[in-house]
Amino acid sequence: MTDAPALHLAGIYRRQVHASLERIWENVFDWEHLAHLHDGSFADCALIDAGPWGWRVVLTPKGAASQLIEMRADRANGRYTSTTIEGTGVGTEIRVALSPCGSSQVDVTVEFHLPEARKERLAVMGDAYVAAYARLWDEDEAMMQARERALAGRRPPNFSVPRLDLGEKQAVRAALPLKFDFGEAPFRLVELDGKLVVHSTVCPHWLGPLDEAPVILGQVRCPWHGYRFYVANGACAAHPALKLGPAPKISLIEGRVVVAWPAGAGA
Ligand code: FES
Ligand SMILES: [Fe+2]
Repeated sequence: MTDAPALHLAGIYRRQVHASLERIWENVFDWEHLAHLHDGSFADCALIDAGPWGWRVVLTPKGAASQLIEMRADRANGRYTSTTIEGTGVGTEIRVALSPCGSSQVDVTVEFHLPEARKERLAVMGDAYVAAYARLWDEDEAMMQARERALAGRRPPNFSVPRLDLGEKQAVRAALPLKFDFGEAPFRLVELDGKLVVHSTVCPHWLGPLDEAPVILGQVRCPWHGYRFYVANGACAAHPALKLGPAPKISLIEGRVVVAWPAGAGA
């Protein structure tokens, strides 16, 4: 049995995160967002195991070899540690402490403990980790805040709204993709194979935003966890239990594009 490598503190990243402790723990356990929300940093993330204790994944940083990473949480003490079990930097521990300082603010302290004894090298690596974590927490904070807003505003569409006139056909086509609210729910009108199609812009997984997602092969991809949905019928091939919310039908009435709920919607 070989001894664990000696670890040295390379740097510390401190930040006040404007999100609730609940959102932050949800994000910490959410291994699935790593290669999607953070697609500038990670190319792939494959689950090995997960539970109330944390998770173990094979994580592939962009342009680098895969690593086996384990996250272990100590929720009672507001701490978690990510350890590199295999791959580059094996033995590295990233230790995080979470300390709430209000209902929706948390002081976060991230320590980078590396198996590197050379002082100059350690300093360079510490700076790189601090810069990388600033970027990751920027992305996480934006997602957590958007999710908090989406959860607070979540309600079924109002099916009693009869119809909405989106405008004259040529002007509507010129404005595509066109975002609009109908029945107090957000939608987007897009063109698919020459036909106009409306789809919900709320991801049914964790309420991620689909309003800016390009339509590729008839599907939109959610930026938070990468689930894809067919805009024509809302189906998700990889997760059949998930489906986009109901969308209004389109009619052309005297040269104008009008949307209305299909018969029986909301029944
Ligand atoms: S919120 Fe998870 S895939 Fe959309
Ligand atoms: Fe993250």
